[in-house]
Amino acid sequence: MTKRILCLAGDGIGPEVMSAALQVLQRVIEQYQLPLELEHELVGGASIDAQGTPITDSVLKKAASADAVLLGAVGGPKWDQLPMEQRPEKGLLALRKHLDLFANLRPATVHPALAEASSLKSELVAGLDLLIIRELTGGIYFGQPRGVREENGERIGYNTYVYSETEIKRIAKVAFETAQKRNKKLCSVDKANVLEVTRLWREVVQNMSAEYPDVELTHMYVDNAAMQLVRYPKQFDVVLTGNMFGDILSDQAAMLTGSIGMLPSASLNAQNQGMYEPCHGSAPDIAGQGKANPLAMILSVAMMLKYSLSEAKAAATIEEAVYKTIDGGLRTADLNQDEWISTEEMAKAVINQLI
Ligand code: IPM
Ligand code: MG
Repeated sequence: MTKRILCLAGDGIGPEVMSAALQVLQRVIEQYQLPLELEHELVGGASIDAQGTPITDSVLKKAASADAVLLGAVGGPKWDQLPMEQRPEKGLLALRKHLDLFANLRPATVHPALAEASSLKSELVAGLDLLIIRELTGGIYFGQPRGVREENGERIGYNTYVYSETEIKRIAKVAFETAQKRNKKLCSVDKANVLEVTRLWREVVQNMSAEYPDVELTHMYVDNAAMQLVRYPKQFDVVLTGNMFGDILSDQAAMLTGSIGMLPSASLNAQNQGMYEPCHGSAPDIAGQGKANPLAMILSVAMMLKYSLSEAKAAATIEEAVYKTIDGGLRTADLNQDEWISTEEMAKAVINQLI
């Protein structure tokens, strides 16, 4: 049965890394005779320019009926002045909400050959393998009411931080089950000393731990978690947290690995339908210069094959090819400013390792 993939390259370096990753995917499709069909659409600023909106209803519909979505990146200075509702980021948030992609998996792993690239001492990060599980369709990103109102002659901005027990339980279940398949350690991150919503979060997660006696559960306040991530990151296996804390901590964790240009992510719903995207943004400062690292996008393709398309073998082939390429010493500009190869050359190098 043919499976359908919707490709949304987006803005900035999005189209460059997408094109690189699709070359790799194309080769793997041939190698393994994968029954995959690719379709391309616009999202973010590209969609604003062409269609006047960060994502059209018809693209949302296509995404919902696809087996998986690949996304490059959205946003850029060109669209920064637009009102909130019309910004490129809204396209991404609409996709997450429309497809109910509540579970965002953001691995931060440090390949031994790249430990030197980290801003931390290499012994602190060499062999690091942690996974942040971020709730992606709730919390303060989506809570109502929200807005800016006038009161007593001044403007007041407000958002609502809200989680229901159901929302907490479904993401915690993913976290416990994922921890069971890894090193069986789960750290739930909250701000239960100040925010009622995260007090409830902590209570619900704690109560669920009885069903997972093999998983060692700890709780940590988010400020401490930010500190521990740079003090001794290897203490973590799976980190579970809400939407906004997860946004912040995942950027921090990504940087431990030397470059955010290496990290893929998966956003899944209850049917394991998923959207796959690099953790990095659209990097408008380097767009069009061939400097973007395509490996995060290529590794996102591998995650897609594994989680949504049940093609674990093809996924492993891509991952191995990426690591062999890195071991061979080839680097894009984010990892070595003195001696770097282009986005396109990196894709070719990975393809060479596939054979
Ligand atoms: C991310 C990004 C997005 C987020 C933006 C682009 C809306 O920072 O995926 O981490 O805040 O979730
Ligand atoms: Mg972010």
